Amino acid sequence: MRRIQKPPSKTAAKRAANKATLASVRIRKRSQTAAKTAQFATAAVRAPAQRRLVVGITGASGVIYGIRLLEALKGSGIESHLVLSRAAEMTIAYETSYAIKDVKALAHTVYPVGDIGAAVSSGSFQTLGMVILPCSMKTLAEIATGVTTTLLSRAADVTLKERRRLVLVPRETPLHLGHLRNMTAVTEMGAIVAPPMPGFYAMPQNLDDLINHTVGRVLDLFGLDAGLVKRWAGRPPASS
Ligand SMILES: Cc1cc2nc3c(=O)[nH]c(=O)nc-3n(C[C@H](O)[C@H](O)[C@H](O)COP(=O)(O)O)c2cc1C
Repeated sequence: MRRIQKPPSKTAAKRAANKATLASVRIRKRSQTAAKTAQFATAAVRAPAQRRLVVGITGASGVIYGIRLLEALKGSGIESHLVLSRAAEMTIAYETSYAIKDVKALAHTVYPVGDIGAAVSSGSFQTLGMVILPCSMKTLAEIATGVTTTLLSRAADVTLKERRRLVLVPRETPLHLGHLRNMTAVTEMGAIVAPPMPGFYAMPQNLDDLINHTVGRVLDLFGLDAGLVKRWAGRPPASS
């Protein structure tokens, strides 16, 4: 007895159609990948990260350190991507004779501290890392807790999550246990805490020498040398 073949159900027909579509997508994808590979083979691999340093200046005392760092980077081939906190603008006015617009003019790019959507708020914007100098206890606390309320602390958080170098130059004295705990926390997360403590072995003659030494040693942490550091090369040989 001949079996009556059932006509293919609607679902089976759909499944067959889907299979065909998938196969053609796969083929298209393969040819697209081949085209991409050919394109990668000819395109130069770029390293924009090697040129960009994010610089944060907060409202702690010692804003001149941040300004000197911007001066050292200007024209050096390293792009400074600056975020100034609101308090930093106050402290710059209190402690220096620089106009805010002149400080901003030293940077390659300036981002408003409230612009949480700026390039430096994303890890996909490649950088060498970030330095915050001087770093206030408030910004330190934001970084230590991850409760980042401004572009400045957000950019620091991003630097940590991308496992890039984050150098904090805190300025406060004396320190309470909360400050010390926050410094421990950021160190555990991968940051480097580098307080601006002058090295007297360089025989500083004036304030400028002290500032340059600190800024130069901060740049050392990024493998950059702006010629600001008088380096210790051991004691001179004793004369006979
Ligand atoms: C002249 C001046 C000096 C200050 N010095 C310090 C300081 O050395 N360390 C500190 O943590 N805060 C200091 N502050 C207070 C900070 O500016 C304040 O805590 C501010 O909220 C920090 O905000 P920011 O981290 O967003 O810049 C100073 C403020 C002024 C006006």
